[in-house]
Amino acid sequence: MKKCLWLVVITVLLFLLAGSCYYDTEEALYPTLNSGCDTTGVTFSGKISSMLANNCLSCHSNTTATGAGNGIRLENYADVKSRATDIAGSIKHAGAYSPMPKNGGKLNGCLINQFDIWIRTGMPEN
Ligand code: HEC
Repeated sequence: MKKCLWLVVITVLLFLLAGSCYYDTEEALYPTLNSGCDTTGVTFSGKISSMLANNCLSCHSNTTATGAGNGIRLENYADVKSRATDIAGSIKHAGAYSPMPKNGGKLNGCLINQFDIWIRTGMPEN
């Protein structure tokens, strides 16, 4: 009987030990969300402009918009600011927005995050 009790105690302890080893972080679960994502230095002239230049201006620059981008210009600060809500919706492939970049894969989570941060901080022209 005593032996049996020890067996139960040891088994319970082993389970507790194994359970305490379970450990993960937000970064481990969502690698594209924050790991290596600079969420502090988000400026228009830096992160936002380069995201647009790399993924959108082939169709939405001042010169390409008429032919390829349905007349939507995303090159100048004022144009981007006035369309910020639509841009956020389209890069998230949300709701009724036309998913962007058109005919391309969804942007990585870091870029989408940074655009949201820029909106939340009041869309500064910095
Ligand atoms: C290959 C060309 C092309 C690229 C690249 C592209 N777009 Fe577009 N975009 C279009 C066209 C064409 C439309 C008009 C709607 C449609 O045809 O889907 C449009 C529409 C939009 C709209 C309006 C969507 C709506 O539902 O009101 C926004 C905002 C937009 N684009 C933002 C972007 C952003 C931001 C990027 C880069 C991440 C991007 N686009 C990349 C061609 C492009």
